[in-house]
Amino acid sequence: MKSLKVGLCGTGNVGSAVLDALTKNPEITQKQGGVQLEVILVGARKGKSAVRNKELKVVTDLRQAASSDDIDVFVELIGGCELAKELVEIALRNGKDVVTANKALIATHGDELFKLAKENKVQIGFEASVAGGTPVIKALREGLVASRVQWFAGILNGTTNFILSEMSENNTNFDVALKEAQDLGLAETDPTMDIDGTDAAQKASILAALAFQVPFEFDSVSYGGIDQVDLEDLNYAKELGYSIKHIAYGNLNEGKVNVSAYPTLVSKELLLSQVGQQMNALDICCEEIGSTVYYGPGAGPKPTASAVIADLVDLANGGWPAQESGSQVNKISKKIIKPFPRYFRLEVKNEAGAIAKISSIFAEENISIEALIQHEAKKLKESLQDTVPVVIISGSVDEEVTSRLISSLESMDEINSQVKQFRIHNAL
Ligand SMILES: NC(=O)c1ccc[n+]([C@@H]2O[C@H](COP(=O)([O-])OP(=O)(O)OC[C@H]3O[C@@H](n4cnc5c(N)ncnc54)[C@H](OP(=O)(O)O)[C@@H]3O)[C@@H](O)[C@H]2O)c1
Repeated sequence: MKSLKVGLCGTGNVGSAVLDALTKNPEITQKQGGVQLEVILVGARKGKSAVRNKELKVVTDLRQAASSDDIDVFVELIGGCELAKELVEIALRNGKDVVTANKALIATHGDELFKLAKENKVQIGFEASVAGGTPVIKALREGLVASRVQWFAGILNGTTNFILSEMSENNTNFDVALKEAQDLGLAETDPTMDIDGTDAAQKASILAALAFQVPFEFDSVSYGGIDQVDLEDLNYAKELGYSIKHIAYGNLNEGKVNVSAYPTLVSKELLLSQVGQQMNALDICCEEIGSTVYYGPGAGPKPTASAVIADLVDLANGGWPAQESGSQVNKISKKIIKPFPRYFRLEVKNEAGAIAKISSIFAEENISIEALIQHEAKKLKESLQDTVPVVIISGSVDEEVTSRLISSLESMDEINSQVKQFRIHNAL
């Protein structure tokens, strides 16, 4: 039976789950993967107290763990980009394969690290860095290797999906839903990177590198967070046949790749719209196949550990097909070229002619209005009757024209607040 000697650093949520699985149930990978995985040493700054299994060899010098002659593969589960990067580089330079769950590291330094791996004839597994236990990296690297990806759209952050689901299903406001996510252990004490979209954008950048053979270029991903979404938006979206999800989107058009992550209205007819609570899902559309959708838990110690261990089994079985990154044909462009249908919400003074003026501004930019909702002012609270919310679903329009349209709308005397805008994903 093939075997692999493993060194691991990071004994937090994921690291402990990997160690538990490898030491308590080693027969699973033997029976199902034909591979014996043996944990040779663990690096933990707190020493022995950091591991549950006291028989494991623990060293407090993490650099020593990464370079040890006794291991074949180094598993990095520390997180962050500084020490983690240094340890991964040490391991690669010392001829060790590497497995990591660290999306920030891959999204930001992926190209450098893959170059170093290639120079040292070793490989890097990073299945756990996107969608936790759901094998989306494997789908892109292997299952779809004979197909050309046109676009992907994914719910890649469980915390924000939970918050949006709670708000939409139970009419809870953002702060209450966030507190609930924290109480359930789904959100970090500091959830900034989830809420502002950074986490999903890092994952989108990793998917784009695989899907479109472009560099790992997190700086070229444009993104925004779910803090822009109000209960009112979720309710209007529902009324119009949509849900609002945080969607990481990548697409290829004439050699230009756009990668982004924003709150987005998703048509109720699409599977993505049904993905609730903390679940993740990724729809990958290829020229040859059409859409394939991958659904499952996107985080949590056990699902993430499962992805880490699957990478170890793959490495023992020879690793992955070599992939060209930094294609000369496809280039990432920060300027979003793809037009989307859009949702606009405006607070409009309750005066005759206001809607006609708004329509004429849309017409000047040659943008069609596909749907418009304006509820009767008398149905609103008295304090809100001076202005009424107007919601418009437009035809497809690109970013540049959208910004121009919004400035024209905001300069109208009849509109005295910021215009809200979200994209709509309705590709079938
Ligand atoms: N949690 C998830 O569900 C999940 C899902 C997908 C991917 N990931 C990724 O998996 C990785 C680990 O996540 P986690 O949730 O397991 O994190 P965690 O619970 O915070 O554990 C981090 C571990 O790294 C150690 N560590 C951190 N900084 C260190 C430093 N400067 N020097 C020495 N040790 C250090 C910590 O040691 P101490 O105990 O001594 O502080 C701890 O053992 C991250 O890259 C994360 O993005 C996590």
